[in-house]
Amino acid sequence: MGVFDAFGYKGKRALVVGGATGMGAATAQLAQDAGAEVVVMDIAAPTLAGAEYIQVNLADKESIDEALGQLGGRVDTLFSCAGVADGTPGIEKINFIGHRHMIDHMLEDGMLPPGSAIGFISSAAGLGWESNLDRLKDYLATPDFDAAVKWVEQNGGADYMSTKQAICAYVASEAYPMLKRGVRINAICPGPTDTPLAQANKELWLGFASDYRAELGLQPSTPLEQAYPLVYLCSDAAVSITGHILVTDVGYFAAGLTEAYPPATDIARFLTGRLT
Ligand SMILES: NC(=O)c1ccc[n+]([C@@H]2O[C@H](COP(=O)([O-])OP(=O)(O)OC[C@H]3O[C@@H](n4cnc5c(N)ncnc54)[C@H](O)[C@@H]3O)[C@@H](O)[C@H]2O)c1
Repeated sequence: MGVFDAFGYKGKRALVVGGATGMGAATAQLAQDAGAEVVVMDIAAPTLAGAEYIQVNLADKESIDEALGQLGGRVDTLFSCAGVADGTPGIEKINFIGHRHMIDHMLEDGMLPPGSAIGFISSAAGLGWESNLDRLKDYLATPDFDAAVKWVEQNGGADYMSTKQAICAYVASEAYPMLKRGVRINAICPGPTDTPLAQANKELWLGFASDYRAELGLQPSTPLEQAYPLVYLCSDAAVSITGHILVTDVGYFAAGLTEAYPPATDIARFLTGRLT
């Protein structure tokens, strides 16, 4: 046993929600490779050999409760990866409310013990959360699944950007209360990543920042390239990190905000809520 073992997952049980395809599937594979026993929850079946599969529909509270009943026991790492694009009915539930319900349920039932970690996949589309914090705090104050659904019905937010901002605000605001339970929570905000979801929305999702990547000779990230930081954030090696929103966009926002790459400046300012 050496100090580098803190990066590994030996002896850990990892639950990957949204682990059938894309970044979730890469996360499941990487966690398994790092030594974890992996359970995948998803509406679709995963292909990863050796992973347990439990079907869940994040848009449906009862389905989440049933899936957690099947899971039983404790998990050391929860990867909350599932998400859908604009135009999908129930996007507010699938991208955020369902994940939050699952976390609440797991915490209540002692399924996330001290020392465990949660890793969300948000998006660069959610980086404007700080400028919307008052509104998001009101939303996050909803006590449960049904109240959150009602809040969105009354106030809006059933769109991709709002759901991703909600994840970022949730991660930041839960860091302190969760750490009181010994649980860490972080998120990554990927830039364009070549997954089935991005391919289905190719022009918008993979077209984003294509000029920047062309300058650098880069392709969109692979799912595994996004899984690496997510798996790291949930490893014991990241014990000092919680409430953190890690921008995993190969530097596009940094280059835009600092005007190092001026064509990205307006879009980076807009998406981070800095455009006045
Ligand atoms: N691909 C990108 O460019 C990109 C960029 C930023 C953020 N993201 C985010 O990354 C995450 C992973 O997406 P991806 O790009 O790997 O796409 P993906 O479609 O491959 O993965 C999403 C997973 O969620 C599952 N899922 C969808 N609806 C569900 C439901 N109702 N209940 C349970 N599971 C459900 C899918 O079956 C799939 O396995 C999403 O949250 C997405 O918003 C993607």
